[in-house]
Amino acid sequence: MARPILIAPSILSADFARLADEVVAVEQAGADLLHIDVMDGHFVPNLTVGPPIVKALKNVTKLPLDVHLMMTNADAFIPDFAKAGADYLTVHVEACPHLHRTIQSIKERGVKAGVTLNPATPVQTLEEILPDVDLVLIMSVNPGFGGQQFIASCLNKVRTTRQMLDRIGSRALLEVDGGVKADNAAAVLEAGADVLVAGSAIFSGRDYAATISALRMTKRVDDPVHR
Ligand code: DX5
Ligand code: ZN
Repeated sequence: MARPILIAPSILSADFARLADEVVAVEQAGADLLHIDVMDGHFVPNLTVGPPIVKALKNVTKLPLDVHLMMTNADAFIPDFAKAGADYLTVHVEACPHLHRTIQSIKERGVKAGVTLNPATPVQTLEEILPDVDLVLIMSVNPGFGGQQFIASCLNKVRTTRQMLDRIGSRALLEVDGGVKADNAAAVLEAGADVLVAGSAIFSGRDYAATISALRMTKRVDDPVHR
């Protein structure tokens, strides 16, 4: 059976002065998750939001909050993000020397645990942790900014990760983040992604519903059910 295609708008490209309205708008436009990018100015060269914004957004949307931690010391903030209402907390393998402990710490708080990789980090670094995670995020840009160009070589990483997940019978979501647009969504889905993160593709247009359905309606080229 075909897996559902989930769309996660990244609020990084939203109008921050009208953030609650923007979130309500993407929820009404058919989003499945809300992707929140947390940047610490150290692991990545940018600063964004922290637990108070996650908490505030929890009050304005029923969408699951998919929180992407681009932080050097994620461990110290996991309790606060869990309390704030994160549904998924995703950490970078490059920033977590005790990745197993970090993933357990997320799950102990009743939050779904995700793991993510920068474009130059091999997928083989996931091998040992894969059975423990609820989500795998393959970065298709170098994290830090919205509106960057999709790095096509990341498609192979998506394909390999899909095989690794299938091999162990994992039901973890496979998410792709960075430069995803209607014109490359088919290739990303064909490689095996379940969740498409899209920031600038959604928020730079006027019709959020049209963009979200254009991303979602992209056919899986390898799926006979959808041919
Ligand atoms: C990049 C962030 C992404 C970003 C995606 O560091 O992790 O979530 O918002 O933005 P677009 O879709 O514009 O590449
Ligand atoms: Zn992100």
